[in-house]
Amino acid sequence: MTLMKKFYIETYGCQMNVYDSQLVKRILMDHGWDETQDFHQADLILVNTCAVRENAEQRVRGRLGLFKTVKRDRPTVKVGLLGCMGQRLKEQLIEEENVLDFVMGPDTYRRLPVVLDELHNGIKNKIVDVKLDKTEMYDDVLPERDDQTRVTTFVTITRGCDNMCAFCIVPFTRGRERSKDPRLIIQEIEDALKQGYKEVMLLGQNVDKYHYQDVNFARLLDMVASIDPQMRVRFLTSYPQDLKNEVLEVMAGHENIARNIHLPVQSGSNRILELMRRGYTREWYLDRIKAIREIVPDCAIGTDIIAGFCTETEEDHQQTMDLMDKVQFDYAYMFKYSERPNTYAARNLPDDVPEETKIRRLNEIIELQNRHSYQSNQRDVGKIHQVLVEKTSHRSEKQLLGRNSQGKVIIFEADKSLIGQYVDVEVYDFTQATLLGRLKK
Ligand code: SAH
Ligand code: F3S
Repeated sequence: MTLMKKFYIETYGCQMNVYDSQLVKRILMDHGWDETQDFHQADLILVNTCAVRENAEQRVRGRLGLFKTVKRDRPTVKVGLLGCMGQRLKEQLIEEENVLDFVMGPDTYRRLPVVLDELHNGIKNKIVDVKLDKTEMYDDVLPERDDQTRVTTFVTITRGCDNMCAFCIVPFTRGRERSKDPRLIIQEIEDALKQGYKEVMLLGQNVDKYHYQDVNFARLLDMVASIDPQMRVRFLTSYPQDLKNEVLEVMAGHENIARNIHLPVQSGSNRILELMRRGYTREWYLDRIKAIREIVPDCAIGTDIIAGFCTETEEDHQQTMDLMDKVQFDYAYMFKYSERPNTYAARNLPDDVPEETKIRRLNEIIELQNRHSYQSNQRDVGKIHQVLVEKTSHRSEKQLLGRNSQGKVIIFEADKSLIGQYVDVEVYDFTQATLLGRLKK
């Protein structure tokens, strides 16, 4: 019996990285590798990384420190860094982190077996393979779906981003925007359904820019939602400038499209939005919110906000808080501005808001959002929610955890056999992050 070589992979950052790691797993498994959850057992250690903020990179560097000790004990172990940090830093990473044998970017994973062969055969000692490829969609690679719950899975519909927001590293690390053939998207979803998945999340940096021949995002969403009315469809991320009423109308026409739109605003100040090169104004953004509320009234709305972007004044900050008051987001991801090398902002704008001010503004934003999230949760109390059950809660085997159509987590007591099913749950209370409910039927 020959023992299969084992790889271990760790994933940081966004859902697209989770999906990419599943592609990587499939590529390795097709070449005779087996996955292990224990890096002490692994012949190959991979870290799929994020570069969007500096602290994301620091976390990865910390992990590399740990893998260095593994390699000290077992020098044959190969360590590779994948993803956005690899694409950003290239050779520099090999110089700075001598634990690394190779570095690859988001568009080169199909060469992984070749890279490993070359390292194994001693043809090369260190490899950096980071060429961006504006046609790479991994069309012929099905992801090795291993989502924890077997209920929800991801499908990447666009790769890259052409928006070039002033603060953002993504266009540099993930390259040009491109869309996947809708026929392949549908095949992939049908494959996931066969494996028992019940919910699919369509992924793109800006899903509203999806287009493949004459299929735009609205049409794709309609096609995907029509595959099976029992399958719930989510999507991430929408972009304020490009979100069309047509998409909202498709949502309204399909009950199985989740009532949730993630629409990053970043700032409520027109002056800052312009500096960020976001391409919309606060008035435009508020008009999009109005359209969502009119066309899909039960839709939850979430956002991303950056505190302390270049030249942000107290007045700009107040404009952000004012916009938050006007919209009343159900949830938000909030960050303090972190300058990223080579972005438009890093090259042209001063990172001049003092750290204490960034932190104070961020805290004010978080506090305000906590109040809005509280109110949003309060509105859910006393109502019956259709919940897709994902798993048992980590607190007790008797408690199940699922999400409603709006994407909120609901915990309730019921039998494990309900995992993967839709159930009606009446919400009676909530904690900061979850709704608490009782099973109705
Ligand atoms: N495609 C998404 C964003 C992807 S990055 C969009 O349309 O906006 C995810 C979030 O990280 C962004 O929405 C932004 O709020 C935050 N972010 C990106 N770059 C950042 C930076 N340099 N500093 C702080 N936050 C940043
Ligand atoms: Fe980044 Fe803006 Fe694209 S935030 S991912 S450049 S939409």
